[in-house]
Amino acid sequence: MTDITDPSPVDAELAFESALRPKNLTEFVGQPQVRKQIELLIAAAKIQDRAADHILLAGPPGLGKTTLAMIIAEESQRPLRLTSGPTIQHAGDLAAILTSLVPGEILFIDEIHRMARPAEELLYLAMEDFRVDVMVGKGAGANSISLDLAPFTLIGATTRSGMLPNPLRDRFGFTAHLDFYEAHELADVISRAAVKLGVEIDHDALSEVAGRSRGTPRIANRLLRRVRDFALVHVDGRVTNNLATQALELYEVDSLGLDRLDRAILEALVVRFNGKPVGLSTLASAVGEEQDTIEAVVEPFLVRCGLISRTPRGRVASEKAYLHLGLAPDSSRLSGLDNL
Ligand SMILES: Nc1ncnc2c1ncn2[C@@H]1O[C@H](COP(=O)(O)OP(=O)(O)OP(=O)(O)O)[C@@H](O)[C@H]1O
Ligand SMILES: [Mg+2]
Repeated sequence: MTDITDPSPVDAELAFESALRPKNLTEFVGQPQVRKQIELLIAAAKIQDRAADHILLAGPPGLGKTTLAMIIAEESQRPLRLTSGPTIQHAGDLAAILTSLVPGEILFIDEIHRMARPAEELLYLAMEDFRVDVMVGKGAGANSISLDLAPFTLIGATTRSGMLPNPLRDRFGFTAHLDFYEAHELADVISRAAVKLGVEIDHDALSEVAGRSRGTPRIANRLLRRVRDFALVHVDGRVTNNLATQALELYEVDSLGLDRLDRAILEALVVRFNGKPVGLSTLASAVGEEQDTIEAVVEPFLVRCGLISRTPRGRVASEKAYLHLGLAPDSSRLSGLDNL
């Protein structure tokens, strides 16, 4: 496997993630439908001895897109090349990668929605016909030549599938939509990680951490590390339910798994804007965060929990959000919600 964007994961967090990353479909917890679909794609390509169809992996951060791309390469025994949209700022950057692919190689483009436009257009032809048109020379003598590519499989990952232009989306043979995980699936993720890390954790502590993991395996693994640290410092290292709860409170992860930013958004909607619908840019500046982070990271989970809803006039907090913040819902406002 070649990593052309980030050759050495020196950062401890990255090293931790890669140590806990499932290596095959059997170790990959949850997403049963997506697993079956991918299994079928790989098996069909193997029977016909060809590169698998292009695959788009869509869903919020930390749900397993990069992990799945690596698993697909592993399961189909193909080499994998990793790159990401923001690093492909010129069509030439992408042409250089595409023309150096070996037959059957898998090209993974993370954050594919952030690729520059000219590169995106080059990709259309490459995905469809395994060909690129490149310009050689400059000025009046410039010439376009067409180069054949080795058949390859593109795996694109995006947290914002809505931002992908239709021509690009249409060229993927299959789109896997990753959804937030159920608490029992996250308990499974944590229990496997605990074995790998040698952490002793009680059954109810496992459920407690799973329930506060925001439906996200990455967060589940992170919280396990936090409660493990807490247990090491305060007791003999064994994580009990009581201890897990204390640790999670210390790290300001609440009973629904919301963090400071999630709560800041809810508080802004409820208190500062008094329950009125609020546009994304206003909300972003109220909490001092990028719009993109709010749309890709914060909102999907708050919507999934039924804490906020998106209406044509803006984001609105639900009755559940008021109750979660310990406030009395404004009944006159809530009764008018249906009319929005
Ligand atoms: N289905 C799963 N089973 C077990 N562990 C998982 C699963 N999905 C993700 N993980 C764990 O969560 C971590 C983060 O997953 P991954 O990097 O694949 O997320 P991602 O969707 O690519 O996120 P981002 O959008 O931020 O790139 C992995 O290192 C792995 O340890
Ligand atoms: Mg990723």
